[in-house]
Amino acid sequence: MRCFCAISLAALALCPLAATSQTAAAPPKPARTPAPKSAPRPGVALTPPMGWNSWNFFGGKVTDQDIRNAADQLVATGMKDAGYVYVNIDDTWEGDRDANGVLHTNSKFPDMKALADYVHSKGLKLGIYSSPGAQTCAHFAASLDHETQDAQLYASWGVDYLKYDLCSFRTVMATQAPDDKAAQMRLMIAAYDKMNKALKATGRPIVYSFCQYGWDAVWEWAPSVGGNLWRTTGDINASWQSIYSILNEQAGLAKYAGPGHWNDPDMLEVGNGRIVGNGASAHVVPLSLAEDRTHFSMWAMLAAPLLAGNDLPNMTPEVKAVLTNRDVIAIDQDPLGREATHVYSDGEVDVWTRHLSGGAMAIAVLNAGFDRYSTHPFHLSLTKLGLHGPQKGTDLWTGKEIALTDNMPIELASHDILLVRIASPK
Ligand code: GLA
Repeated sequence: MRCFCAISLAALALCPLAATSQTAAAPPKPARTPAPKSAPRPGVALTPPMGWNSWNFFGGKVTDQDIRNAADQLVATGMKDAGYVYVNIDDTWEGDRDANGVLHTNSKFPDMKALADYVHSKGLKLGIYSSPGAQTCAHFAASLDHETQDAQLYASWGVDYLKYDLCSFRTVMATQAPDDKAAQMRLMIAAYDKMNKALKATGRPIVYSFCQYGWDAVWEWAPSVGGNLWRTTGDINASWQSIYSILNEQAGLAKYAGPGHWNDPDMLEVGNGRIVGNGASAHVVPLSLAEDRTHFSMWAMLAAPLLAGNDLPNMTPEVKAVLTNRDVIAIDQDPLGREATHVYSDGEVDVWTRHLSGGAMAIAVLNAGFDRYSTHPFHLSLTKLGLHGPQKGTDLWTGKEIALTDNMPIELASHDILLVRIASPK
């Protein structure tokens, strides 16, 4: 697996604090470690969580007001109605612990309970962030040795979602088990289980999101220590290279996902961009609309959490249309919870399929090529998809009916996608 810088460059420009965040390092490859046994939380995250997270756009500059604005915008834009309910504060809300070990917020978040009440008053839910280490990735106070106290604090505020980021716990692992990768991984799993038990003890149904960059094949053990979702890779950024590379790392992980427990290829960058150039020539290059569409479509195919990360108050109508495409969201939220698999590639064109409830099927054909304008002369093989003869479906980006035939030519612009739902595949 590869890793990327911790935040999108757009956020970096906004955010000097975030620039100090530790980046997600490449995972070690130790021997398999046995997972401790404890039941996952029932009834939570039966479909992939949907919402918005502050990190990809605001980084370390996020404030209470930004979170309130995001909540307002989720309602005003119709995103809430489309399913986006979690409003997640990422790193940099934390202040200091007092003499009793109670963690306080910093000045950017004057009253977390009041903020939670505000978010809840909009019919939305509040997410928060911490680390099993002494410090978060952006060097703020984290939960090491205060897990129970912190979980109780979150519950008292009314928090509904916790992203738990390995960050400085890597130092604990390296210090306590030098030169023993397997022992380090056992420490990591135990740390995630400790917070799992602390969250459960609160009695609040808090979604538990692991962020440890896929280390030690997290998909194999996360559900056994209460994980509702787990990052499978290093950090995403708002570039095609990052999105496409993360997408390819998901091949082979489908069997680990299902209701209550999901692979997380990281938050959405739809509507974001990256900074190119330095000084006076620095400018933001947004993802193209085709890239936004493909990113969103493929995260839906992957049954990924759909956590938007864009500047909601300044969202363009085109970006809003991508994020609120209900047919694509329905693929993501399909109750069967079966993730897509990569079926075949032909040159620069990739074909993925996903089995849906009621015997339906989704097919994604994407053009990963950059150097030519379209996929000519790609021909879609239905036989390779296990289909027999012509198929009737719906093109989920035009909303129109589409007839697929074996070996039909499909022309797609660079980085664009064809996403088709077939209600009754034959
Ligand atoms: C890590 C995570 C990111 C973000 C930052 C915050 O890099 O992978 O998603 O939470 O930390 O510091």
